[in-house]
Amino acid sequence: AQYTIGYLVGSLATGSINRKLAKALARLAPPDLALEEIPIRDLPLYSYDYDADFPPAARTFKQALDAADAVLLVTPEYNRSIPGGLKNAIDWASRPFGHNSFTHKPAAIIGASPGEIRSAIAQQHLRAILAACDCPLMTAPEAYIHFTPGLISDNGDVTDPRCEHFLRRFMQSYGQFVARMAKLRPAKG
Ligand code: FNR
Repeated sequence: AQYTIGYLVGSLATGSINRKLAKALARLAPPDLALEEIPIRDLPLYSYDYDADFPPAARTFKQALDAADAVLLVTPEYNRSIPGGLKNAIDWASRPFGHNSFTHKPAAIIGASPGEIRSAIAQQHLRAILAACDCPLMTAPEAYIHFTPGLISDNGDVTDPRCEHFLRRFMQSYGQFVARMAKLRPAKG
């Protein structure tokens, strides 16, 4: 694969529908994208007291983000926003000052919910947060997945062909966005 996509799952739940969605996206992505989860579960709660010396879990997290060509955020909506665990991970990623892991990291957002609002409000909040983090974000297509029972299996099989087609197209668009952003990226060093 040409590009590694690190993905963050906003949910820590064992039966997370958003993790199922992430697995489906990994399977449906075009061959030039390799998706790998960057876990957020072991991060302590962020404080700038850590900025002088990040703990091992935060170092591992930031190294994984820095090594990825792009970052995909797959998130549920909790109380009309993103889950606290995901916000915490983003705060770690953005610091210490001057070492923001989101700078020049092409991102995309997707989320699933069993509710009719389909994570849309959380995704709007997440767009604002990532904009504050100077993160280049794919603006279209948007993807609000209405999760019905059995829509996606634990290992990422999508049972509805229309949903499968939509997710495949979403990942194709994201791959094109990542390639476009790679051309604009300043040389390292
Ligand atoms: C929810 N849920 C929810 N759904 C939604 O569409 N809008 C919301 O604001 C909320 N709020 C909310 C708060 C809390 C604390 C929980 C636990 C749940 C329902 C949510 O979409 C559902 O539990 C999904 O299964 C969450 O996705 P994961 O965690 O399974 O990936």
